[in-house]
Amino acid sequence: MTDTPFSDESDSQGPRAGTMARQQAIYTAGMSGQKPAVPVDYAALEAAAEQRMSREAFAYIAGGAGRESTMSANRRAFERWRIVPRMLRNVDRRDTAIELFGRRLNQPFVLCPIGVLEMAHGEADMAVARAAAARGVPMLFSNQASRPMEDCVAAMDAVAPGAPRWFQLYWSKSDALVESLVSRAEACGCEALVVTLDTTLLGWRSRDLDMAHLPFLLGQGIAQYTSDPVFRESLAGTDDSGPRPKITTRTLRNVLAAARHYPGSSLRALTSGEALAAVRQFIATYSRPNITWADLAWLRERTRLPIVLKGVLDGADAKLAVEHGVDGLIVSNHGGRQVDGARASLDALPEIKAAAPDLPVILDSGIRGGADVFKALALGATAVGLGRPYAYGLALAGENGVGEVLDNLAADFELTMALAGCADIAAVRAGETRLVRDETIAG
Ligand code: FNR
Repeated sequence: MTDTPFSDESDSQGPRAGTMARQQAIYTAGMSGQKPAVPVDYAALEAAAEQRMSREAFAYIAGGAGRESTMSANRRAFERWRIVPRMLRNVDRRDTAIELFGRRLNQPFVLCPIGVLEMAHGEADMAVARAAAARGVPMLFSNQASRPMEDCVAAMDAVAPGAPRWFQLYWSKSDALVESLVSRAEACGCEALVVTLDTTLLGWRSRDLDMAHLPFLLGQGIAQYTSDPVFRESLAGTDDSGPRPKITTRTLRNVLAAARHYPGSSLRALTSGEALAAVRQFIATYSRPNITWADLAWLRERTRLPIVLKGVLDGADAKLAVEHGVDGLIVSNHGGRQVDGARASLDALPEIKAAAPDLPVILDSGIRGGADVFKALALGATAVGLGRPYAYGLALAGENGVGEVLDNLAADFELTMALAGCADIAAVRAGETRLVRDETIAG
């Protein structure tokens, strides 16, 4: 392989083969007229996924809070930083590996927790689990997953035993449920506990509101609850007061859907009333808006796992996190789904890194390509979290679709890093390649 445009010595000798092979595979398939089924370009990926999903599913995944200004701020923040590539720096051997919570990862990214993946594809979390495990990319099991974490773990271990997995917790009103979820996560071999702080209440999601559609009411995205012994036990005493929908054929269809989503016999779930009780109980207890920093000590006593706080956007909160002994932070605005008008997550990163210099800091919200990963690492992130792009890959082609999105990001990042003049992540972090501000892009 010395006379093709893909010739690249480091692919066979470097720490990890595959980046150039990815380009080569795509271009070679193109020789026989084949185009990637999962588009490489993010806008094309989103458009193709939209075609494949129901209107409700696409709205749920693509949408944000209010006028969605936080989503556009996330992208503008990345665009404002420009990379200043350095030349003649020997990038023949490249290494994109990092270490995170004692584990070596080949790429500096994790899969963000995304709930209700069944809206994107029937195999939902299971397909994501297999794709992530095959590549050694940590999967963050969502508290709102469509499949129980134990099922995902079995799927992952069948592909690559011990593949990295973390659990994301929404802090429920029920202490007993929190304890149960945490102990299940430990038993599943999760390597970190991510506590999402920004969703103590559900954001004002315009697209979902205009469709009057919330998947949880159909029994979707509550598999971690309906598979939980403590949650199931709590159903006996549920309160069935509260607003009730008008009964129409649509109501009946939705009640049947909730029963179908409940574990075991759907008929039993329907006639016993358990499926609807589960939905009601979930709505009543899934979040606890009165948690405060002081409550973290309670959680600390109940787990030996590293505790990572997700949703931190202020340096003052990062300082508090350090004072309360947490082990890591995820700088995130939940992909613009919670506070319309919130600051871009990338804009918060330098301040948060300065306030918590010794903690691993992961950045999500707006990662769409390799250059975004590069910029986040150069601004102090230990790793980044990938969100919507993998959900779209899932919608288009299940496990393979998620895999393609991950492989594309890995290749894109490695090439960006090399072409910018950095052979490894240490060089990116050390600022060997500068970022400059493009002042023409408004904040
Ligand atoms: C999310 N996110 C999320 N976060 C979390 O902690 N628990 C969850 O269950 C979910 N569910 C969820 C569903 C959907 C459809 C989306 C798009 C996002 C937020 C997610 O983890 C991450 O912060 C964002 O996706 C990052 O933004 P981008 O890059 O996807 O725009």
